[in-house]
Amino acid sequence: MTQASLGESVVQKTVHAQQNNGVSAAVTHTQPLWLLAEVTYRCPLHCAFCYNPTDYDKHTQNELTTEQWIEALRDARKLGAIQLGISGGEPLLRDDIEDIVIEAKKLGYYSNLITSGVGLTEKRIQAFKDGGLDHIQLSMHDITEEINNFITNTKTFELKKKVAAMIKNHGYPMVLNVVIHRYNIGHMKEILEMAQALGADYIELANTQYYGWSLVNRNQLMPTKEQVDEAEAITNEFRANPNNKMKIFFVVPDYFSDRPKKCMNGWGEVFMIVTANGDVLPCHSARSLPNMQFPNVRDSGLAYAWKDSPAFNKYRGDSWMKEPCRSCSEKENDLGGCRCQAFLLSGDAEIADPVCTKSPYRHLIDQAIEDSKNPVLVAQPIVFRNDKNSKRIIAGELNDRVEGFHSLP
Ligand code: FES
Repeated sequence: MTQASLGESVVQKTVHAQQNNGVSAAVTHTQPLWLLAEVTYRCPLHCAFCYNPTDYDKHTQNELTTEQWIEALRDARKLGAIQLGISGGEPLLRDDIEDIVIEAKKLGYYSNLITSGVGLTEKRIQAFKDGGLDHIQLSMHDITEEINNFITNTKTFELKKKVAAMIKNHGYPMVLNVVIHRYNIGHMKEILEMAQALGADYIELANTQYYGWSLVNRNQLMPTKEQVDEAEAITNEFRANPNNKMKIFFVVPDYFSDRPKKCMNGWGEVFMIVTANGDVLPCHSARSLPNMQFPNVRDSGLAYAWKDSPAFNKYRGDSWMKEPCRSCSEKENDLGGCRCQAFLLSGDAEIADPVCTKSPYRHLIDQAIEDSKNPVLVAQPIVFRNDKNSKRIIAGELNDRVEGFHSLP
């Protein structure tokens, strides 16, 4: 799953209020439609582009129990959530996903397992089918074993193809997610052909967005604008072919756009994440923001988190905006872009997302594009997502790589 695909096309309205728990904010009359359960940060893969927090190692020893997850599912359903994503890390590293699936079905969720495929066996997929899991999204990485294994720092190429067949054989729609970056963007046509050969019904070509590990590895991962344009043209050509039956979603990368995305379809509008340790967040990267206290399901219910917590109200609506967003005629379209990206790049969470060409900070994006062509920076080794590197980042050992970003999560 990628940030850009979440809650897409769902538009909800907020009504503005003056104060909420001491925070000037917009109070929502909306409901969370999406609950993303990031059930664990443990993962057998070590992807260079992972959006999980770089300090995830702090949260691997205090995961919520099965009972706590079931309670969270019930709580979110009462608030109106209808889509459940079961994600990670790799969710299949937990042995209670079957129980979570059964409960999700009872509660009436449309449930989606978001997986690398590692750990998916015939026995488990049958249990998911029997339990009522609606959908499985499988990540793929390339058509070549070499790039698949390199970018994930594992040997998983053959396994992924087997898992894809298993998903199809159990009557699930074949939904693939491929994160696109410098190493595979030249294989777009072949990736689409592979998806077609696997019988994919839907493929998401998710150009890397730069958060978490992918921000650390930005110079190593970012393709050129020409490569992105070519990839999009190949995708459009493939789409237009009458023989193509797949739905293809091409996530345009922020850095090569003039306007930012309406991140998460608006802060606290449709989307709620419960993390492995129970923190409740409006977006994946929210814990990178300064001076924010996020609620935790161990201390309070999700109704408090969604409706009343200062964190969820802080960037709702537009009352928090500064210029140029405040008086911008386009502000309803993007709500000033992504708060986390604004903070990570500029150190100020309330500025216009630097992606916007109206932002006084757009030069940060242009510089990043230039840096990704700088052979000295590009030659730095990739920092793969693994426990050792997460510990090193927490200990400050990789500050030379991360100090350019503010409080990298
Ligand atoms: Fe965009 Fe946090 S990731 S607001």
